[in-house]
Amino acid sequence: MGSAFQELIEGWDGEQVAVRYDADLATWMFIAVHSTRLGSAGGGTRMRVYARPEDGLADALNLSGAMTRKFAVCDVPRGGGKGVLAVPRLFDGEERIELLHRYGDFISSLGGLFTTAPDMNTSERDMDVIAERCEYVVCRSASNGGSGSTAPATARGVFYGIRASVGGDLQGVRVLIQGVGAVGAILARELEAAGAEVVVSDVDPSRVFGQAVDPADVIGTECDVFAPCAAGGVIDSDTVERLRCRMIAGAANNQLADPALADRLHERGILYAPDYIINSGGVLHGAGREMLGWDDATLELHLRGLGDLLLELYAASDGRSPVHAAEALVARRLAGAGELRQ
Ligand code: NAI
Repeated sequence: MGSAFQELIEGWDGEQVAVRYDADLATWMFIAVHSTRLGSAGGGTRMRVYARPEDGLADALNLSGAMTRKFAVCDVPRGGGKGVLAVPRLFDGEERIELLHRYGDFISSLGGLFTTAPDMNTSERDMDVIAERCEYVVCRSASNGGSGSTAPATARGVFYGIRASVGGDLQGVRVLIQGVGAVGAILARELEAAGAEVVVSDVDPSRVFGQAVDPADVIGTECDVFAPCAAGGVIDSDTVERLRCRMIAGAANNQLADPALADRLHERGILYAPDYIINSGGVLHGAGREMLGWDDATLELHLRGLGDLLLELYAASDGRSPVHAAEALVARRLAGAGELRQ
């Protein structure tokens, strides 16, 4: 193992990492199990081209911690994990099927330690293919017996989170959505239907509609709510000073490049809805549908509960960023003593 891998893994607060290198497909497979305190680990599998394999490993490690937090917040008996397929290019056709089969074998070899779901560049159809070789998969396509895409539930959870955070009335509230893919596009429609003024931005011009801003201008654009729904790390030491919004509330995972930036946002008077709370609708969907037997109405109730939970955390913030109250909630849940309930 190279020193970059060693440094990343030894500096991580999780439990274990499984690594497989597939020479035929020139693909690194990483499965990071951050915590099994609440149950065996669950998390999406991301397929992505990285400049270096250690960037893929870093993604798996960081994203697995967010999954531990999401399951704890949602009170679901699962631990946090994440899979990353660091590919030389995004495969399709037979090559993609072969990769997913080999990945399914890899997950199976862990004997149930990790169960996966879709994430960036993997779909419910990909889960169907993994499931041909492995039983530890959720969110297969509905036609194949799974619960399907998590995007609508994630968007709905973010919608409820934004609505609660602005005080319940979205009429005339200007929301800037960065990334109108699976989640962002649904969120945009729901916000518009509730009377919000929606502004969108996407690097893919074919996805843009209505009032739009150039991706390069997103950070300096004035709005009430900035909703990152593209990639993580969008708030860094530079962008945090240039934001012109009252609030950040969106679907992307790990929106802060450094967790300490939450305090800087607070100093600037920008309310930050912790990402792993507002975007946990996908977890509620996957676990609710496939582990807990929820129907539509029960899922909806829990998605709405994310807005209520955010309000509880804001109230418990004690003049600090709500991130601290959120972390305290996670710590209590992991310790087995839930006080704040959804
Ligand atoms: P997606 O891949 O369908 O959409 C992302 C969109 O962002 C694409 O349209 C892409 O062109 C655009 N984009 C990428 N970079 C951009 C940039 N710099 N500026 C503007 N647009 C940019 O992904 P999806 O499923 O909509 O997820 C969005 C985010 O939410 C991701 O970060 C994902 O990890 C996170 N998330 C998604 C969940 C889900 O259920 N799909 C659950 C929890 C988090």
